[in-house]
Amino acid sequence: MFSALFLALPLLGTAKADRIYSATYLPSNIPDHTEEGQSGTNQCGTALNQSSQCQTAYMNSLDDWCLWAPPQPGAHSSIGETERIEVAWCTKNGTGARLIPDGAITGAHWLITPDYIQVTGTGNLTLLNVPEHDIGGGGELDPHGADGNGNPVGGIVFSKAFGGQIEEIFEWTNFMGPGEFCFRICDPKGKNPAGFCQHVYDEMGCDWNMPGNYAPGFDSCHADSGEPMGVYGGSTFHQGDAATPAPHAAPKPTSCSTVSSIGNGFIIQGTNIITPSASAPTSTPVTSAGGSAVTSKPGSGSGGSGSNSGSPGPTSSPNSAAGPASLQSWERTVTSVGLAIVFSLIGAAVVL
Ligand SMILES: *[C@@H]1O[C@H](CO)[C@@H](O)[C@H](O)[C@H]1NC(C)=O
Ligand SMILES: *[C@@H]1O[C@H](CO)[C@@H](O)[C@H](O)[C@H]1NC(C)=O
Ligand SMILES: *[C@@H]1O[C@H](CO)[C@@H](O)[C@H](O)[C@H]1NC(C)=O
Repeated sequence: MFSALFLALPLLGTAKADRIYSATYLPSNIPDHTEEGQSGTNQCGTALNQSSQCQTAYMNSLDDWCLWAPPQPGAHSSIGETERIEVAWCTKNGTGARLIPDGAITGAHWLITPDYIQVTGTGNLTLLNVPEHDIGGGGELDPHGADGNGNPVGGIVFSKAFGGQIEEIFEWTNFMGPGEFCFRICDPKGKNPAGFCQHVYDEMGCDWNMPGNYAPGFDSCHADSGEPMGVYGGSTFHQGDAATPAPHAAPKPTSCSTVSSIGNGFIIQGTNIITPSASAPTSTPVTSAGGSAVTSKPGSGSGGSGSNSGSPGPTSSPNSAAGPASLQSWERTVTSVGLAIVFSLIGAAVVL
């Protein structure tokens, strides 16, 4: 019970400190900017523009997502140095953001869990202006910067992945390095979205915060939620503690479907974009919006045990035994009760 309250109390602080619960946006009503001091815009239109300053990102499906990355290349464009001014780079045309150049992403693994969805993968993110030397996990982007603004300032994330309706995602976290990325969004209606999208482990990188599949290839899978970042049964690790615990075992992916590639079909040279029709008038359409060749694994219905044999599944670690799993469901129940109490308190405070 105490641990549940400790999990819940930071949420109360969050709700007080941030603007995110006082304004909810949709793509149709989002203003030009949503936070003071914002370098770019949230009204991004739909034009193709590789110099776009769009700071609205989407996380919809395996072939339709965005990353935060620096607006300019250069030695001083590390994620840490540009986190306040990063812009959205997206897989598909139509968002008004920059396009992630086809070929930049060599692996992307979309993972759907009861409480969050994430994409993890690899690629050459120097094509998105992340400096080659930005090693050590790069840096982390989230809606909770030190001054209460987001990193990037005014960064907004929308998704229709939780039930089909487009909605603003209040809790999200994205790590970017020159060769690896991970972006998790937490279901606003899910359990403990602030916990499953925890942003305080910003020096720990993708592998620790979002253990999962970082191999080449493209697939979409389902899995259990696992434990929130930093929570190990009843104890919570704090960044900087003397002993750093091993990453959680990655939740086992099931019901996977794979695609051969993702991309938009545009040819991008610096800030120039060549449309597919102009560049390859007679060729069959390159994997354009919507993706191609979705091959569902036979018999990959619900509860299928086999993860995609082509992509190495995450390795199990010794601490993934049955104990933590049952503890976890117990913990969830208690956490929900804790949350219910906290939200009643907030409700009461509002009424008073
Ligand atoms: C592209 O976006 C930049 C930054 O918002 C803007 O200055 C420029 O005019 C846009 N270019 C086009 C062709 O729309
Ligand atoms: C990009 O997407 C927008 C919005 O969907 C569309 O109007 C435009 O025609 C697309 N551009 C190209 C070159 O396909
Ligand atoms: C990434 O792309 C750049 C630009 O094309 C290239 O110079 C560099 O070698 C690539 N890096 C890797 C690791 O492939």
